[in-house]
Amino acid sequence: MPVIAIDFGTAYSRVGVYRQGKLEIIPNEKGNLETPNYVAFTDSEILVGDAAKSQLEQNAVRTIFAPKICIGQPFNNDVAQRYKTCSTVKVVDRNGQVGFQIEGQTKVYTPEEISAMILLKMKQAAEVYLGSKVTDAVITVPGCFLDSQRQALVDAGTIAGLNVRRLINEPTAAVVAFCLENNIQEDQDVMITSIGAGASDVSIASIGQAFVEMRACQGDPFLGGVDFTSKVVDHLRIVFRNEHNSDVADHPLALQRVITAAEEAKITLSNQTSAVVDLPSLVEGKGLNVTVTRSILEECASDLLGRYGVLITNAITDSRMALSSFRKIIAVGGTTQMPAFVEVVKRATSSDVNKLANETALYGAAIQAAILSGDHEGNLGEMFILDNSSHSVGIETVGSACTTIIPRGTTLPAKKSEIFSTSADNQPVISVQVCEGEREMASDNPKVAQMDVKVPPGPKGVPQVHVTFNIDDSGIIRTTCEGYQVDFNKGRLSKEEKDKMAVEVQSLK
Ligand SMILES: Nc1ncnc2c1ncn2[C@@H]1O[C@H](COP(=O)(O)OP(=O)(O)OP(=O)(O)O)[C@@H](O)[C@H]1O
Ligand SMILES: [Mg+2]
Repeated sequence: MPVIAIDFGTAYSRVGVYRQGKLEIIPNEKGNLETPNYVAFTDSEILVGDAAKSQLEQNAVRTIFAPKICIGQPFNNDVAQRYKTCSTVKVVDRNGQVGFQIEGQTKVYTPEEISAMILLKMKQAAEVYLGSKVTDAVITVPGCFLDSQRQALVDAGTIAGLNVRRLINEPTAAVVAFCLENNIQEDQDVMITSIGAGASDVSIASIGQAFVEMRACQGDPFLGGVDFTSKVVDHLRIVFRNEHNSDVADHPLALQRVITAAEEAKITLSNQTSAVVDLPSLVEGKGLNVTVTRSILEECASDLLGRYGVLITNAITDSRMALSSFRKIIAVGGTTQMPAFVEVVKRATSSDVNKLANETALYGAAIQAAILSGDHEGNLGEMFILDNSSHSVGIETVGSACTTIIPRGTTLPAKKSEIFSTSADNQPVISVQVCEGEREMASDNPKVAQMDVKVPPGPKGVPQVHVTFNIDDSGIIRTTCEGYQVDFNKGRLSKEEKDKMAVEVQSLK
């Protein structure tokens, strides 16, 4: 049975398999190798991909874009604000998580469900192409994805009827593909700069003949192409307000036109130094006609570019390597097309940047899928891929501090056991709170698990519980206590919810 690879991006998804020593990218029903991540609700049906995108401007408030931005995220202002800049669909608080509210419907959709509709589309395309049923998949994720985001994506796969065999970090997938494609023979260290539509990473890897070992990863889940587009949107809003004393953000259909135009202008500005935005009759007959220059874009986005520079510096520090030891700097993801991005990388590394093709992350994921399926020719079986953790796993200790148990950068899978005891006589319960991240205070880091273990009465320090912390190959954290798995379900869908969604989603044709 083939294991397919899905590069589930923020803006686009791609699906493929590795056969006879090469990547086969599977076209969707329209014959396209990339499927835009849109799901639209019309009066009579649900549209996914190209069909949803093509009716976007007429049906903006019922067309969801980029569910990946919200997946596994608690509902808070930062996420809601960010989503507002790339879509006019309303996001709401659904049991503490982000939900999508479609105009005219009472049901609130979860990012897992919407992502599942897209994943199902990719699965169906693969089944048509391969002429057989497909159940198993490897799916890409940004290196900086948190445990909650990874688990929610696996849930999305389950809802789509997929058995997610592995999540692979996008930079890892990219460097695996680079290694094979270039037939790397000699051991060397490389830096992977990765920035797509939703997130960005800077990773460092040691590679050689048939091996990839990830050494460090620094990422920013709030830094991607949509954020550059939103800078252009903000600029256009200001121009419109100054001219007409009206805010396009108050008019969803007008705002959607501005978002689309801003995206196009941003892309044009990678090849040209100016782009014209012409949007007649935007609000009450008033239009917008303005030239945006590359320097305006770069000025508006200088904070984003600066943040990427900091990621590079931090990744180098984490790797404990000298800048001069990197043989190559490679770049993956659509946003690496921006000249200003290339300049930031060049400035921070004093090296040239090798831009890789858009399908590189898919390619690496397909290699991983072929290895897992065991069904491949050549020397793939000897290919060794060692990934590492992008966030530290810690526990809350005295004074609410976060004490690290498994530091970031640890080779996966990782496992560590600890013994916990009481701090007062006859204390009835030992509480262990597990969190993920690098902040000093536990409450500043996302919570991963909470255990309250009842213990028999006894003097302080005598009752003991053994807790084991695991991070699996997909970067998913599992905590077990005395052999029992502790599920921290806050925000996660229940089995009943997933089963119900699976029936609904899989009935889509
Ligand atoms: N020529 C270009 N100049 C600037 N940006 C571009 C260009 N081409 C594509 N992009 C941007 O790249 C992004 C899409 O890139 P990509 O397909 O790598 O992202 P993704 O895989 O969907 O998202 P992610 O991997 O972050 O989840 C979009 O934000 C798009 O605007
Ligand atoms: Mg991507």
